[in-house]
Amino acid sequence: MTPHLFSPLQIREVRLKNRIVVSPMWQYSGVDGRPTSTHVVHYGRLAEGGAGLVIQEGTTVSRVGRGTVGDLGLWDDSLVPHHARLVEVVESGGAVPGIQLIHAGRKGRRTPPWAAHEHEPPASADWQLLGPSALPITANGSGVPAEMSIRDIEDTVTAFANAARRADEAGYEVLELQAAHGYLIHTFLSPLSNRRTDRYGGSTANRLRFLVEIVDRVRAVWPAGKALFVRLSCVDVEWTIDQTVELVRELQQHGVDVIDCSSGGLTGVPAPGTKTDYGYQVPHAEEIRTRTGLTTMAVGYIVHAAHAQAIVENGQADLVALGRELLHNPHWPIDAARKLGLTDPYAQAPGRISHWLRKRDESFPDLVPSTEGSRQL
Ligand SMILES: Cc1cc2nc3c(=O)[nH]c(=O)nc-3n(C[C@H](O)[C@H](O)[C@H](O)COP(=O)(O)O)c2cc1C
Repeated sequence: MTPHLFSPLQIREVRLKNRIVVSPMWQYSGVDGRPTSTHVVHYGRLAEGGAGLVIQEGTTVSRVGRGTVGDLGLWDDSLVPHHARLVEVVESGGAVPGIQLIHAGRKGRRTPPWAAHEHEPPASADWQLLGPSALPITANGSGVPAEMSIRDIEDTVTAFANAARRADEAGYEVLELQAAHGYLIHTFLSPLSNRRTDRYGGSTANRLRFLVEIVDRVRAVWPAGKALFVRLSCVDVEWTIDQTVELVRELQQHGVDVIDCSSGGLTGVPAPGTKTDYGYQVPHAEEIRTRTGLTTMAVGYIVHAAHAQAIVENGQADLVALGRELLHNPHWPIDAARKLGLTDPYAQAPGRISHWLRKRDESFPDLVPSTEGSRQL
């Protein structure tokens, strides 16, 4: 019997060949929003490695919302053909192409993580930090955003909708909204970063309004057959799983298909009770799935094939997303298929690769894959 990790999943009209997802990973290599050869290599090798779905990195909906100078963007129609090229690369690798849309909010305008990851002085007048309230990320005052006007909010909701329309035109089939990790949408959800007194702040319904409006406007342009994911920080400082469940129940009414279950990021402090260990965020995916019935994706230190298989087999999540493990080994899905005893593990890769891998096995029946130790010569 096929291990559950390698069973297909249908979401609306989108069919994933297996439950393995490439988690969105910023590559800091865009030029004025455009992908470069780096992205072609990065997404090509990840798609060919056998994952069912590749969710492309956080792609900014407006120039002002950029996290770093190298962000990819979808703030202009001229960017669509560049993204269509990435869609082609991912599809030719055999995976479904997905994209994450983001506005970095008060976590914007930073240097890359390996270069201190600090706020840079404004490179241009159109790149200021924005937030629901003028509250810094940390107590020491890092990243004070300008409080958004109602006009700013409306423009940003429109920017998400326009970027979603462009993502559809480029050919992406899965769209994920980044509403976690302290970026703009997340700062509206939490009362720690949102002290507004208008209809976007105060009560729970008011703090959720920005995200719900984005979802509605995105769903209106994102085809009914395509899938909509939302990434949430399910627990964070002064934010509990119960609050997330309440939010998810609301999102369920607005056409969201999958919750990508992450945690933390609003302040510099880890979410209470967080102990970074294998699959440490899986319990959030499980609780949301159980309490709301919505499809969930687990992420965070999922490393071993047997563990990934157990997560989906036991009904803790419907999908598993891997980030760093796939950077380490883009062929992790093929390795996992071998380890879990799939009859034809190479079927996860496109024919131009799988054909030769099968022949390689036929030529050397006792061949031991490089990741599983070596045989005596
Ligand atoms: C290089 C890198 C870039 C990342 N960029 C993003 C991003 O663009 N959007 C996002 O939501 N998360 C981003 N993340 C977080 C990952 O999607 C993932 O949630 C996290 O790495 C935990 O999964 P892992 O333990 O399998 O790496 C990034 C992580 C890495 C390592």
